[in-house]
Amino acid sequence: MIKKLAAIGFFLSLVTSLTLGQVQEITGNCSIPDAPEWTRHAVFYQIYPQTFNDSNGDGIGDLNGIIQKLDYVKSLGANAIWLNPFFDSPFNDAGYDVRDYYKVAPRYGTNDDAKRLFEEAHRRRIKVIFDYVITYTAIDHPWFVESCKQQPNKYTNWYVWNDNVWKMEEGEFANRFIQGYGHRNGNFMRNFYWSQPALNFGFGQPDTNKKWQLPTNHPDVLAMREELKKIFCYWMDMGADGIRADMAGALVKGSDVNGDTKKFWQEIRQIVREKYPQAFMVSEWSYPKDALDAFHADFFHWFDGYNDLMQKESWRILNGFSEGHSYFDKEGKGNIAYFLSKYMDQYNATKSKGYILLPMGNHDNARMNVQRTTDDLEIIMAFGMTIPGIPFIYYGNEIGMKELSDMPQIEGAYKPRAGARTPMQWTSGRNCGFSTADFSKLYLPVDTSIDAPNVASEENDPSSLLNRVKKLIQLKHTEPALAAYAEFVPLYAKENSYPFVYARANGKEVILVVLNPSAQASSAEFNFNISYKKLQLLAGKEMNIGKKEKTMKCEVPGISFAVYKVK
Ligand code: NOJ
Repeated sequence: MIKKLAAIGFFLSLVTSLTLGQVQEITGNCSIPDAPEWTRHAVFYQIYPQTFNDSNGDGIGDLNGIIQKLDYVKSLGANAIWLNPFFDSPFNDAGYDVRDYYKVAPRYGTNDDAKRLFEEAHRRRIKVIFDYVITYTAIDHPWFVESCKQQPNKYTNWYVWNDNVWKMEEGEFANRFIQGYGHRNGNFMRNFYWSQPALNFGFGQPDTNKKWQLPTNHPDVLAMREELKKIFCYWMDMGADGIRADMAGALVKGSDVNGDTKKFWQEIRQIVREKYPQAFMVSEWSYPKDALDAFHADFFHWFDGYNDLMQKESWRILNGFSEGHSYFDKEGKGNIAYFLSKYMDQYNATKSKGYILLPMGNHDNARMNVQRTTDDLEIIMAFGMTIPGIPFIYYGNEIGMKELSDMPQIEGAYKPRAGARTPMQWTSGRNCGFSTADFSKLYLPVDTSIDAPNVASEENDPSSLLNRVKKLIQLKHTEPALAAYAEFVPLYAKENSYPFVYARANGKEVILVVLNPSAQASSAEFNFNISYKKLQLLAGKEMNIGKKEKTMKCEVPGISFAVYKVK
C-alpha cells in the first residue's frame, strides 16, 4: 500500500509536468563526478570465476581460463571486468566467505595467476576490479579461530560477541547471534549466513549496559580496520584496478549516528587518491545517497523497483512479495513510474557525486532470460546501455543464457542464484566448451537444451543477441550523450503504461531513447524543447516519430526500441 501511494505521488508529479508542458529542460549542462576518467565510457563485464572457463579440466573455472578468454571480452567491447571472489575459502557462500585474504583459492590457481591476469588484461586495455569482502570472514578464518578461544588474545574483539552464551539478544539483533560455537562464553553475530561471522566495526551507539558492544573507535576495532586496508593495498599493488565492496553499508552495528561506516570507506578512498588515483570503487550498498559520499559508484539493485523492472524471477516474486510484473515483459503490466520514483530521488541527489549502477543481471539474481526472446532481451540491453552510469553485463547475458531451473543449490546458491551461475556456453560441443571434465564433475550442470545459446554460433549470426549487444556497446563508447555522467531526462513515463521515453544530453549532444517491451503497439506525446533537423536512428527499429511545435509524438510498435541521435 505504502509502495502504491508513493508511486501514485510521484506519478502525479511526473505526469503533471509532462502534460502541463512544464517538462524539465533538456540540458547538457552536466557536472562530471570525481571518478577516474576511464570510467566515463566504460562497459564492465562480470565474471564468476567458477563457471566461466575451465582450463585444467577439473570441472571448475579458473584464472588461467579467464586469461584465455580475455580476447573474447575485448571483442565484446567491454573494457573492464568485475571478478567475483577468488580467495581461499571453505565455499559455504561460493567464495564470499574468505579464509585467507592473501591467497588465491587453489581451485582457481595461484597468486601468480592473479598477477598474470591483471597484466594480460592491461595489455588489452581492460581494467579488473576485485571483490573486497570485508564485512565478515569465513568461519574458519584464523582470526575467527583465535577469537573463539576462551583465553583473551589479539583477535578476541575482532568479531562481535556477546558475553554470555545463555543470553539471547532481543530487538534488532535478535536473530543475528549464533549460539554455542567455540570455547568462548558468548554468542557471535553473523553478517549473512550463520558461517559468516561479522567483523567488529563497533556500535554506533553502544548500550552502556552491554560492555561487549564496543565503540567504533575502540583500539581493537581500529587495529582490525588497519589490517583490512593492508589487504586492499596488497591486491592493488599486484595490479588490480579497484574494488566492488560487498555489503558495503553493513559495517557498523546499530544506529550509525556518526557515519563511521562511511568514514571507513572514505579512508579507503583517501588511500586511492594518494596511491592509486586511477582506481575505481564500487559499492554494493544500494543507497547511493550514502554510498556516493565515499564510493565512485553504487549498485542500486536491492530494492523492489529494480526487481520489478528487470526480473521475472526475483527474490520478491519467488517469495511472494510481489505479483511479479516486470516492465520488460511483453504482457505489458509493468510500472515504470514506480521504478522512476525511487531512481530519480537518488539520481537528483547524487548525480554530481558519482554513478548509480543498474546491473544487467548478476550472480544473486535470476538471469534476465526467463522465457524471453532475443528481441525482448535486446530491449533490456538497450535500456542498460543508455541509462546514466556504467553498464555491468553479467557473463552469458550477452548471448541470452537462460535461468536454469532445479539446479543443485550448492555453496549457498539457493534459488534463484544457482540457476544464474551455470557454466558459460562457448560452443555447441561437449559441456558447451566450458570444460573437458566429465559432465558429473562440473561445478554446476551446463544447459543441455537443444536451443542453448552459445558464443560460437552467435558470433557468426549477424542478428544474434551477441552482435546486437556489441552494437549497443559501441554506441555507449562513442556517443558523448551516453557518457556515464550525461544528463538524464525522462520524457514519457506513465504509470502502468508504455512506452518509456527519455533523453540523454551532454553539451549540444542529445540522444532520444524509446522503449516498448510490451507486445502491444503504443504511442506517446510529450514536450520536447529542442529544435533539430533530423533524428538519426542509431539502433533498433525506425518508428513513426515527429514534432509539431513543441510536442513530439511517436507511435511505437510492440516489442521494439529505438535510439535516436538528435541533430
Ligand atoms: C552479496 C554477494 O553478492 C552475495 O553473493 C553474497 O552471498 C552476499 N553478499 C553475502 O556475502
